[in-house]
Amino acid sequence: MSTQKAFLLVEKQGHFELGTRPIPKPGKDEILVKIKSTALNPADLWVRKFGILYTEYPAVLGLDFSGDVVELGEGVTRFKVGDRVLLGGEFRSDYSGFQEYAISDAHTAALIPANLSYDDAATIPTALSTAYLGLYNDPLKGLGLQSFLTPGGEGAYAGQAIFVSTGSGSVGQVVLQMAKLSGFSFVVTTSSPHNAPYLKSLGATHVIDRTLPLPSLLAELEKIDALPKFEYAFDAYGRADTSLLQAMTVLVPGGKCVTVAPRVQFEVEDGKTLAKFSAEKHVKENVPHLRALLESGEATRLLESGKIKTQKADVLPGGLGGINGGLKRIENGQVSAVKLVVHVDETP
Ligand SMILES: NC(=O)c1ccc[n+]([C@@H]2O[C@H](COP(=O)([O-])OP(=O)(O)OC[C@H]3O[C@@H](n4cnc5c(N)ncnc54)[C@H](OP(=O)(O)O)[C@@H]3O)[C@@H](O)[C@H]2O)c1
Repeated sequence: MSTQKAFLLVEKQGHFELGTRPIPKPGKDEILVKIKSTALNPADLWVRKFGILYTEYPAVLGLDFSGDVVELGEGVTRFKVGDRVLLGGEFRSDYSGFQEYAISDAHTAALIPANLSYDDAATIPTALSTAYLGLYNDPLKGLGLQSFLTPGGEGAYAGQAIFVSTGSGSVGQVVLQMAKLSGFSFVVTTSSPHNAPYLKSLGATHVIDRTLPLPSLLAELEKIDALPKFEYAFDAYGRADTSLLQAMTVLVPGGKCVTVAPRVQFEVEDGKTLAKFSAEKHVKENVPHLRALLESGEATRLLESGKIKTQKADVLPGGLGGINGGLKRIENGQVSAVKLVVHVDETP
């Protein structure tokens, strides 16, 4: 078989439809994966709406997927055919998840531990890399914290406080868990109130309604006993007028914030700093951090031990054909603390 089913964005800012395309061949240091579960992201919407990031159409989107290794490119020794792997996609059709087969750079793939299903695994790759880079990448691209994976890094921020805007998003959920591994004594986050118990189970110490106006948010912070000043904030949603504004406002003068919105415009005052970043695999500053997390086997160990938990998967019917409806749910704000996933082999 040389062709496969794919969910295609037919042209720039055009419509999606099911179609076929060739199965790609893995090159040097790459693996070919038969995809079992693939997950949806807000970025899939941004690509279609703004016509960004892809240069060739029809295009295949999809940044999170899991499956089985079916072919090894030259030089790959970390994996063997039949391994179960989880992967973050790229903004290139051959490397994306809304199809039956995709290739991946072997350095940034990770084995799925035996305790996780393909659905569990598909919920986590992009969120894992994005949270890790935002917290631990160099100060211009992230908060520049000492990673919990380095000697003495676990628990290094005991006694300190971090503010996480939108802890209930995919990225936010992993930021909360990593902040806990870094030892922050106060992990204060925002979300819809119904997510508070879940976010506390991940590591949030305090959860505040994300829709509160700024003065009310500040009043809620005043009520927290012995709360140190926030030197660090992570905007895990990326809206200048809501999540980022909250994160920048609560920071102490001179404090550091990082946002998931690489192009957001925001006026920074009081000696505060704002790092913006993209978690794309081939950005020079990202490479050593992604290898320390993924190629090292640490990601697999963190997931196996439960130190990092995957998201709850909400499986859509219809295989790749279910993606359209899922993207509409994301666009309408009807996704709360779950990851939308489809089973590729259910595609008609
Ligand atoms: N820089 C990068 O490389 C990178 C990587 C990954 C993601 N991102 C970006 O990061 C953002 C978040 O991605 P994600 O996958 O974590 O999103 P997500 O899982 O889809 O986020 C869903 C959550 O967002 C919250 N939310 C909805 N509307 C909001 C608003 N107006 N203000 C604040 N929070 C709101 C909801 O919280 P409640 O349910 O609690 O109300 C919901 O649970 C997206 O814009 C995405 O494109 C960037």
